[in-house]
Amino acid sequence: DWSVSSFIEEQVAAIRERVGDGRVLCALSGGVDSSVAAALVHRAVGDRLTCVFVNHGLLRQGEAEQVQKTFGQALQVNLIYVDASERFLAKLAGVTDPEEKRKIIGHEFIRVFEEEARKLGKVDFLVQGTLYPDVIESGTETAAVIKSHHNVGGLPEDMELELIEPLRLLFKDEVRRVGEELGLPEEIVWRQPFPGPGLAIRILGEVTPEKLAILRQADAIVTEEIRRAGLYREIWQSFAVLPSMKSVGVMGDERTYAYPIVVRAVTSDDAMTADWARLPYELLERISSRIVNEVRHVNRVVYDITSKPPATIEWE
Ligand code: XMP
Repeated sequence: DWSVSSFIEEQVAAIRERVGDGRVLCALSGGVDSSVAAALVHRAVGDRLTCVFVNHGLLRQGEAEQVQKTFGQALQVNLIYVDASERFLAKLAGVTDPEEKRKIIGHEFIRVFEEEARKLGKVDFLVQGTLYPDVIESGTETAAVIKSHHNVGGLPEDMELELIEPLRLLFKDEVRRVGEELGLPEEIVWRQPFPGPGLAIRILGEVTPEKLAILRQADAIVTEEIRRAGLYREIWQSFAVLPSMKSVGVMGDERTYAYPIVVRAVTSDDAMTADWARLPYELLERISSRIVNEVRHVNRVVYDITSKPPATIEWE
């Protein structure tokens, strides 16, 4: 029988022994896996751990603050917060192709992370929140993981970081239990999956500051109402998408010509297949009327009723 507290004790002892007086680096994303891995390593080695959190400007409302509050303040982790928003947005200007956006964001992310890592001087270990399903899926051993990093222009070989992957034998539900036991907040432990490229792949076509602001606000309403309805945990992912098109509407005596917001909510076990969530009409109604009333430049809300396959979960 797997016990959370003995898992933590054993890992803490093993990590402490392995790290010795070395230094450890971690890239925090705000997601469950990297957060739990970081919290575990922090419990083991305290100040020998430095976490780097890169804000690429494509996060959801309140997300960067949440990570700073949890890791910087509550857990007192050495946290380097980098606001690289302008840098990412400049690189994304004029780019409309989804894969091109992913590539740019991935490259830029590694570049920013590497710059910060170099400033720290000698670092010996890198923490990764690899889970058991990731290990199986990619059939990887440590070397292959490093290699795939290098393939995206990853950390330079002269840094020679050894990987610490304390969660590599765990499944997601076990990781969540470990996170709870370590005192991470509900918002992090139960967070739905969120793609690395963030809102950039939920704005169809070019990403601009104006569209980001609209999407952020609409997305926050979707999340808030899904939570309020008590559905956040049972839904795999729920979010807003902003297509770059406009449609006609009417407000008072005025004709409007503004963006629609697409609401996407799916149930799934592993994201390989997904079913559109049968959200209650009253909930859809609340989401719709709040978005059109509260978010400027939006005059229409539609609900995506397509499953995967043939659609994907994301729109890009
Ligand atoms: P799709 O849209 O292919 O998504 O059905 C399956 C799962 O993967 C997530 N996703 C991504 N995650 N980088 C990521 O880290 C990406 O580029 C990316 N694209 C999709 C998606 O949110 C869903 O959970």
